[in-house]
Amino acid sequence: MTRKAFVIGHPIAHSRSPLIHGTWITQYGIDGSYEPFDVSPDDLPLFFERLKTGEFAGGNVTIPHKEAVFALCDTLDPLAETIGAANTLVRQPDGRVHGTNTDYLGFLGNLDANAQGWSEGLDTAIVLGAGGAARAILVALKARGISRVHVLNRTKATARRLAEAIDGPFHPGGLEYFTEIAGAAGLVVNTTSVGMHGTAFDTLDLSVLPKTATVTDLVYVPRRTPLLIEAEQQGLRTVDGLGMLLHQAVPGFTAWFGVEPEVSDTLRRRVEQTL
Ligand code: ATR
Repeated sequence: MTRKAFVIGHPIAHSRSPLIHGTWITQYGIDGSYEPFDVSPDDLPLFFERLKTGEFAGGNVTIPHKEAVFALCDTLDPLAETIGAANTLVRQPDGRVHGTNTDYLGFLGNLDANAQGWSEGLDTAIVLGAGGAARAILVALKARGISRVHVLNRTKATARRLAEAIDGPFHPGGLEYFTEIAGAAGLVVNTTSVGMHGTAFDTLDLSVLPKTATVTDLVYVPRRTPLLIEAEQQGLRTVDGLGMLLHQAVPGFTAWFGVEPEVSDTLRRRVEQTL
């Protein structure tokens, strides 16, 4: 029986997930499919019924449904619950739908693959931004046992609310606080939209960071954001956001099709050509 998986969003045309999963389906000779569906918020419960009745093994969920599917899942993994959003659905044999959030796994997988040893002895990290993406990153850093995570945001009150919402070693502040604390930071993560299409932070002084620090960006268009370019110029280790996009797809594919796929350079190049 052909196994089917999906990605739902509204709109959905921009999603790179069909290319990623389609490449793996071909590479591993799997009798399966992965297709995009444009599903409006009104149609979401109906689509969920299609999943429950067995038409699909599962699928991915993207904007604007990541929070809404949360209420529709029968079970959730505890970290998805803490993050408050699910992006991967897996239909269980009994028809129940399990929701997970693979963003945090993608973030960790990307750093593990491209910045080996990044978390060894890492004491202090800085997360820029306090939106939905930041939430998944905070959960990931807490899971890795980082003892101090500064959450710096343009709007300080939002950083404070996020730091209070998740139990952990989180210290909120404004972006201007960066210069004061960066000397102790081994990792900087940009979760804001700054960097998209070449925009830059105008206030961050990366020269304050220790030369052993790693800088990573969730933005992947362009792949080398102004933040990563500046970090490179400072001699720092950098990890781009495209890897996170690829790595976050691994757990879903493994669950639906029974093969743990490789994030290869060929796949990376294929996706990069479409950006
Ligand atoms: P996501 O779910 O992708 O994280 P979001 O919830 O809209 O998206 O969050 C966007 C983040 O980018 C926020 O932290 C936002 O800062 P504010 O809380 O102050 O809005 C940050 N952001 C967006 N544009 C920014 C800019 N030009 N400078 C600094 N931060 C910016």
